[in-house]
Amino acid sequence: MSALFLFMNNTSSPHFHIRDVPIYGDTILAPMDGYSDWPFRSLCRELGSAMSYTEFVKVEKILSRSKEPAKRLYFTDVERPITFQIYGDDPDLILKAALKIQVLNPDIIDLNMGCPAKSIAERGAGVGMMPSPLKIARTFKKLTSALKVPVTGKIRLGWDKNKNYKLIARIVEENGGSLIAVHGRTKEQRYTGNADWDAVAEVKASVKIPVIGSGDVRRVIDIERMKKYTSCDAVMVGRGALANPWIFSKLDREQVTPEQVQQTVRRHLAKSVEFYGDEDGSRLFRKYAVQYLLMQTLTRETRKQILKPMPSGEFLEMLNQVYTVTA
Ligand SMILES: Cc1cc2nc3c(=O)[nH]c(=O)nc-3n(C[C@H](O)[C@H](O)[C@H](O)COP(=O)(O)O)c2cc1C
Repeated sequence: MSALFLFMNNTSSPHFHIRDVPIYGDTILAPMDGYSDWPFRSLCRELGSAMSYTEFVKVEKILSRSKEPAKRLYFTDVERPITFQIYGDDPDLILKAALKIQVLNPDIIDLNMGCPAKSIAERGAGVGMMPSPLKIARTFKKLTSALKVPVTGKIRLGWDKNKNYKLIARIVEENGGSLIAVHGRTKEQRYTGNADWDAVAEVKASVKIPVIGSGDVRRVIDIERMKKYTSCDAVMVGRGALANPWIFSKLDREQVTPEQVQQTVRRHLAKSVEFYGDEDGSRLFRKYAVQYLLMQTLTRETRKQILKPMPSGEFLEMLNQVYTVTA
């Protein structure tokens, strides 16, 4: 067998399947409320993220007349496989909402069981579901019996020191779930401390469905490190991708050339303006720009200029000048 054949064969076979959905790749943009919107998510997909997860959407909003869910769940076919992520605390409402959004033709529907925000967790949704294993079992049973698409779950390690992640992972599997993503922190930890990769490894060892590990993947080397350490099928990159979306092209931030930066900025800004209109699109784009433009290396004056509200055309012109000077 020639080396070329082996190479082609390698690149064209899926890394793993989520039930019958093939996933080509092992590095995925983590769902992030307020960040993994269509412009950023589809940009990361173009840069190499293996699939897309939407920001989470509240089931009550899906079942209302609100226009917000449609905006959050918007996608184009090139983004596939696309996972819609939802959250709620009532199994019947979760099912009703999932059936409603299934009509939009996602590849997968995911239940968020990890959000630690007070307003969500304390009413029993997000990570607030984890202290109620029976409710999780009922919810997954209902979802997997009624939906055509695979159903997956994203969890934390538990509510507090009393971590029940292994139990919850097994319940998801036993009730038809097709994948479990594990953020290696408890609700109490929120985003502090180190993510516990041993726990991700324990989940992987205790279920047969694929497992995605999440937490503290910041550099390219961390991707292989987490996979090797935990045997997980893929890793998610959250905050690390905000500082370096090129991680999906297996580049650390310092390896990205000024030309690549300019190209990505142009693409991201164009998507943001297309999606939100010029004014909102330019404004919303800034919160990403401050993260991935290596602002600390720019002069105070340039930083101030970048953060000043201006139409997208002017912004690009200014950026051209900045990068001609610093390149
Ligand atoms: C701003 C922000 C928003 C997030 N929103 C979501 C969300 O909507 N759904 C979800 O499952 N996880 C959410 N997460 C958790 C991430 O998906 C991820 O599991 C976590 O940030 C740990 O990964 P990291 O260390 O790579 O950031 C969010 C995290 C951050 C920082």
